[in-house]
Amino acid sequence: MNTAHPTRTATLKFLADLSEPLVYVPSKGGGDKTEHVGNFRNQQVPVLDARTDLIKPSLDREGFLLVPHASAVSDFYDDDVLRHTYHDELKVLVSRITGARRVEIFDDTRRSTSLERQRQTGIREPANIVHNDYTAQSGPKRLTDWLKSTGTDRASLPQGRFAIINAWRPIRNPVYDQPLIFCDATSIESCDLIAMERRADERVGAVQAALYNPQQRWYFYPTMQPDEVLLFKTYDSAEDGRARFTPHSSFRDPLAPANMPARESIESRCLVFF
Ligand code: OGA
Ligand code: FE
Repeated sequence: MNTAHPTRTATLKFLADLSEPLVYVPSKGGGDKTEHVGNFRNQQVPVLDARTDLIKPSLDREGFLLVPHASAVSDFYDDDVLRHTYHDELKVLVSRITGARRVEIFDDTRRSTSLERQRQTGIREPANIVHNDYTAQSGPKRLTDWLKSTGTDRASLPQGRFAIINAWRPIRNPVYDQPLIFCDATSIESCDLIAMERRADERVGAVQAALYNPQQRWYFYPTMQPDEVLLFKTYDSAEDGRARFTPHSSFRDPLAPANMPARESIESRCLVFF
């Protein structure tokens, strides 16, 4: 039973229709502005508080989950530290939460809501359209690309289910505004999700954009802390009814306190083998 009451309204950018070709153009970072190609429109959605709601979200049902996680890392801008410390921490965490037999991290993306920080550090801005990072085809393709680039033999990895899970955490400050917002995967119809080419310089892939549907339930975690990690599933090879895709975006919180430090975050993408 879901007894939660919406706590605020978010304005999210959805696909309006399929009248235009769709291209997702990721920013390179450093304050460049990119425009995605497609016909989008803003839509207000009621937002539930995942901390107080009676549901206890899970990766396999709702598609997302917040876990307490203190990291030994103090500088999330040091790639060597990420490789030698943070990735090992995430492997332990994601294996423990999911029961996976093997976890590999293949991407770290830092973002800030502050244009000045984006320019100073070369990092990216928050996501501004509702999307899921992979499609049923681009998830396995990302694995194939990773196998090739690392010279890994698929046969050397566990042969069961395969998933891609993002591990998102605030760095430097708690999140006062522009938090992540998730669509409960049980409230999404497969026809709400539309494949969209993702065109970056280094790789052409595909994400999914979303059409609005009033049945969708949207959740966020207020004031996320640097010792908390949000895990969310962006691909699952299993087609047995569990969550496969978790549409998400960031949003401007109308109740955010003024003059607080910018949101800064790192999201690490994990290949998860069962
Ligand atoms: C992600 C994502 C957007 C943001 O982690 O996949 O879309 O604003 N993040 O942090
Ligand atoms: Fe994303």
